[in-house]
Amino acid sequence: MRERVRKVAKWIVTCAWPYVNFIPHLGTMIGSVLSADVVARFLRMNGEDVVFVSGSDEHGTPIEVEAIKRGVDPKKLCDENHAKIVELFNRWGISFDNYTRTESSYHKKFVRDFYMKVYENGYIYEEEVELPFCPRCGIFLPDRFIVGSCPYCGFEDARGDQCDSCGRLLEPAKLVNPKCAICGSKPEFRRTKHWFFDLPKLSAELEKYVKNAPFLTENARNTSLSMIREGLKPRSLTRDNKWGIPAPFPGAEGKTIYVWMEAVLGYISATIEHFALRGERDKWKEYWLSEDCRFLCFIGKDNIPFHTLILPALLMASRGGYVLPWGVSATEYLLFEGQKFSKSRRIGVWIDEALAMYPVDYWRYVLLSLRPEGRDVSFSWSTFKELVNTHLNDTLGNFVHRVLSFTYRFFEAKVPHPSDEWSKEYAWTQVLEKHGECTEKLYSFRIRDALNDVMSIAREGNKYLNEKAPWLSVRDGDLKGASTHLYVCLNVVKALSVMLAPFIPTTADQMWSMLGLEGSVHQARWHEALTPLTPGRSIAKPRPLFKKV
Ligand code: MF3
Ligand code: ZN
Repeated sequence: MRERVRKVAKWIVTCAWPYVNFIPHLGTMIGSVLSADVVARFLRMNGEDVVFVSGSDEHGTPIEVEAIKRGVDPKKLCDENHAKIVELFNRWGISFDNYTRTESSYHKKFVRDFYMKVYENGYIYEEEVELPFCPRCGIFLPDRFIVGSCPYCGFEDARGDQCDSCGRLLEPAKLVNPKCAICGSKPEFRRTKHWFFDLPKLSAELEKYVKNAPFLTENARNTSLSMIREGLKPRSLTRDNKWGIPAPFPGAEGKTIYVWMEAVLGYISATIEHFALRGERDKWKEYWLSEDCRFLCFIGKDNIPFHTLILPALLMASRGGYVLPWGVSATEYLLFEGQKFSKSRRIGVWIDEALAMYPVDYWRYVLLSLRPEGRDVSFSWSTFKELVNTHLNDTLGNFVHRVLSFTYRFFEAKVPHPSDEWSKEYAWTQVLEKHGECTEKLYSFRIRDALNDVMSIAREGNKYLNEKAPWLSVRDGDLKGASTHLYVCLNVVKALSVMLAPFIPTTADQMWSMLGLEGSVHQARWHEALTPLTPGRSIAKPRPLFKKV
């Protein structure tokens, strides 16, 4: 099978950096991390040049306050949680090239140098401001530490930096009925000096970017354009927090950089670190400074403005020649039984609990089948059961098991010799068709539909197998007929193994081994789904892939 002639591109695949103070829940997983993993795996298999990076988002007020409460060093809290998260992402099969953290020395240095350029280029100014200060706690109340009603939509639990309900960016002074989030006191406003990023100066350039960015999901493009139309505001850049990256500006001693304004730069610093650790110091430039490199972000919709406006604006303002996000794939929310995930109200499933209950591929499959593309989607246990039992077990698992067991028992565990016409059988022609469609969908990050294409191959395979019933041919002594039909089915199993590799990597590899193929499916190329098996070769003893839940 010839691979379509295609220019290999460079890709920086990223997912939003999860906050280190929580174990991520299923919503975070499908919204960013898992989606990015599928695409990174697919692109690599398809021969693209990929670097997949992310890390723990460690700074900011929540960690600092938690550390104060517990009387420990915030760094220590972060070390512990970061290690847990790294281990969990490994167990979830996330194929990062580098999963680092904002406490990395590469990151801290990069951020400070970067901001000095933005400062020298005239996009940062200082100003005396009045900020909410809690007289009872004795601290300024940045961002999440002040809550109140959103002035735009009236949502009562809006935070100082953003409204979770309408998604608009806020400033603490805009909140109606503000309260200290720690103790509930009414804050007073005190004067202090801060540094600001002159976002409005880049409005025109940003509008052009948002209109022309090659790939933005509809929600990302619309939210961004309407924010530009409403008028962009300068964004505050510094905080009075101790836990963070010291602001490098002259006169800014004691201030740190606002967590969001540095974490988004992690995509670059993580790439720098990745190559530096491999002794290829300058290689990151081949990605970040190359005009045709595709920088791809997987995020949940609450992160849209930071990735479509603030990050591009910072990159522009640095005049460093960095690529802007080529694509932003923003998911809607995953709800849990119709409600928002909430740690405090114990609504939802966290990624450690999930793995204690069921194998990772059950979760990957269910989450990817539910991926909230276009609208919020609710996770429910009944859907979980239905997807695992019907899709994975009955459709995929049974098909694979029947084909392999039959080969094992009646064909001496060898791939049979087919008739010359085998490739005209519909179970195979639809593999060719679905492979093409699935490839196209993955290139436009319609992950849920792409997975559905793969599963439709298994559904057709089942139908074909039932219809051709090779066991009846064997019973009637028609070995030739049975051989051809079985050969088709074995090739369908192989195609499934390759095409499922980005989605459910453990299962896909089990299928690969059971087919008796060498190495791992994860070394195979995407188009090898269509390379037929050599007749006469041996398969391994089949085992069931799934169990009903
Ligand atoms: N920690 C943020 C969140 O979970 C996302 C940060 S994304 C980054 O909402 F771009 F800043 F890294
Ligand atoms: Zn307080």
